[in-house]
Amino acid sequence: MMTARKNIGRASPVLLVFLALGFSFATYNLITIVIRNRFSGLEDDSLSSGSRSMLRDPITRMPDHVKKQENVRLPFHVALTATDSPYNKWQCRIMYYWYKKVKDMPGSEMGGFTRVLHSGRADDLMDEIPTYVVDPLPAGLDRGYVVLNRPWAFVQWLEKANIKEEYILMAEPDHVFVNPLPNLARGGYPAAFPFFYIKPDKNENIIRKYYPEEKGPVTNIDPIGNSPVIIKKSVLEKIAPTWMNISIKMKNDPETDKTFGWVLEMYGYAVASALHGVQHILRKDFMLQPPWDHDVGKKFIIHYTYGCDYSLKGELTYGKIGEWRFDKRSFLDRPLPRNLSLPPPGVPESVVTLVKKVNEATANIPGWDTARTG
Ligand SMILES: *[C@@H]1O[C@H](CO)[C@@H](O)[C@H](O)[C@H]1NC(C)=O
Ligand SMILES: *[C@@H]1O[C@H](CO)[C@@H](O)[C@H](O)[C@H]1NC(C)=O
Repeated sequence: MMTARKNIGRASPVLLVFLALGFSFATYNLITIVIRNRFSGLEDDSLSSGSRSMLRDPITRMPDHVKKQENVRLPFHVALTATDSPYNKWQCRIMYYWYKKVKDMPGSEMGGFTRVLHSGRADDLMDEIPTYVVDPLPAGLDRGYVVLNRPWAFVQWLEKANIKEEYILMAEPDHVFVNPLPNLARGGYPAAFPFFYIKPDKNENIIRKYYPEEKGPVTNIDPIGNSPVIIKKSVLEKIAPTWMNISIKMKNDPETDKTFGWVLEMYGYAVASALHGVQHILRKDFMLQPPWDHDVGKKFIIHYTYGCDYSLKGELTYGKIGEWRFDKRSFLDRPLPRNLSLPPPGVPESVVTLVKKVNEATANIPGWDTARTG
């Protein structure tokens, strides 16, 4: 200490200026995520009409000391929250299949896997997929909005399960890993995917019911949901109970419920994390969403939440049932069949890849078309 101070004391003013400049360059590492307006015109049953325009390019500044040290592997545990419905089961089986395929590929920092099953009882996939059973919310509390069970599932799992990894990926059944996923978090900064339709600044009146002014501007709230997020376990342990409380409060407030609709629980996570002063690194390459994103490239997860409807000429007919279609909602009460037909020529690579990945999984999962997912 003394030596360092003495040396600086003797340094010339010019050297000090250089040192100061160098320090401020090193202190911030600018991560820029470019978001193109490829979502304009999007319609989905889960979105309110006011929530469909372009997301500004988010820029995250990250202190240098949280920059990642190369060659240090920081494995994360993959946590998949799900119910025992046939609809969730077939998706979980495909999801777990692709986890196993990419887990040991170069560049992956994927660790163990747990399906956090929040139906309160074991089902017939227990020996196919590593599973931890937790309780659902008490009857009636979710008001039919089943995803409110997610934060409660995390609260219970984090409290009771023995999780080896220091980091957690919160994943969903309709995720397909297409590239080996590294740990995108940096120290206490979790990584998240920015959703264009989560707009805290456009909903300030509502957000302020949960995020008081003394906490700062509503722009502190990241445009994200809880998934996909890679986060330090200790940080999620702090956020999860608040996330649960806020989501339930939001659901019980008619104005909030009406405005946020199906994305309410995403706002619940975004607000809860901001209340704990947690800021996320926004990674547009975390995930792609067919049919809006056309190329897989180096992205990591295909999220097949939107229906893919095309004419036989390969034209998108979104919102109208296509002559060719892939829509997870066509299979609410049964597993989707093996060997789905590939899309017609002209359909984007992302959609073709998705169907091929689904077909590969269903062809190779033993007993796909037997009674076990009924
Ligand atoms: C959540 O709400 C319950 C009941 O109102 C309360 O006891 C608990 O302290 C709250 N927890 C957090 C983290 O807000
Ligand atoms: C899959 O379906 C195609 C027709 O769409 C058929 O030609 C092919 O033989 C089928 N493959 C398997 C393994 O059933």
